[in-house]
Amino acid sequence: MEVIYDRDRLRQYRSGVPQPVGFIPTMGSLHEGHLSLIRQARKECKTVIVSIYVNPLQFGPGEDFERYPRDLERDVSLVKEAGADGVFAPTREEMLPRPSITKVTVSGLTDRLCGASRPGHFDGVATVVTKLFHLIQPDRAYFGLKDAQQVAVIQRMVEDLHMPVTIVPCPTLREPDGLAMSSRNVYLSPSERERALILNRSLEEATRRWKTGEWQRGTEAARYLRETITSEPGVELDYAEVLTYPGLEPVESFHKEEFVLAAVAARVGSTRLIDNRIWQGR
Ligand code: PAJ
Repeated sequence: MEVIYDRDRLRQYRSGVPQPVGFIPTMGSLHEGHLSLIRQARKECKTVIVSIYVNPLQFGPGEDFERYPRDLERDVSLVKEAGADGVFAPTREEMLPRPSITKVTVSGLTDRLCGASRPGHFDGVATVVTKLFHLIQPDRAYFGLKDAQQVAVIQRMVEDLHMPVTIVPCPTLREPDGLAMSSRNVYLSPSERERALILNRSLEEATRRWKTGEWQRGTEAARYLRETITSEPGVELDYAEVLTYPGLEPVESFHKEEFVLAAVAARVGSTRLIDNRIWQGR
């Protein structure tokens, strides 16, 4: 497996590999969730390329860009074990040689959920993913549904801009106790880790109730999630919303929607965590 640090070498490498090329963009600090995307790409593609780059554009002021966990050596060995062919691990200077005055904005979809709490975040994501797509020119790109809004935004961007890549959404991997795997879980103290389980537990119970048909509108399900998470001590709710997926509009009636996203975000101590379920209806 080759580790590539610069754009010139990447271009050279890309021109010589068999297609289809599968691509998994990451910010490193890899866990089984990331590795599951690599394994799925391995099954479907002749060449699998993983990028590892902590993208400054998607972090707001006061967020955890500086302290975001970084361990390239460990990440490279995990990627290799998972069966990828190449790693693109550019420096900040390689990706941003000078301040960029160009950005990609996906409007509407990004003014709610995480987009409302993290202004500019999805511009940063859409811009860096566009740059990475141009550099790597993948046929297929793999994204986790743990970040369901990110998948919706990237899918829409690819359609709107006619980018020649197929987006492959992949299921969320969880710890044995149900906590969604995340690079940020390492920030949690043992007691915070315990309290963080309320995110998955509330979504699990909401899913059970949704199946019984007791709710008609998204706002009823959202109220349940909001109340359940708010009642957990030490957990500060950011949002709990139930919206159509991937359009992210209010759900007037569950019967009318094919896919619905139940999404929650909360701060446990100083760590912001998100989780969700996608409910298939009709
Ligand atoms: P990062 O948080 O490193 O995640 C990289 C990919 O792994 C994303 O597609 C994410 O949804 C997926 N992922 C994370 N946790 C997962 C889990 N528990 N199960 C399955 N997949 C999971 O998302 C980003 O980086 C960045 O925004 C990026 C797309 C790389 C742009 O900078």
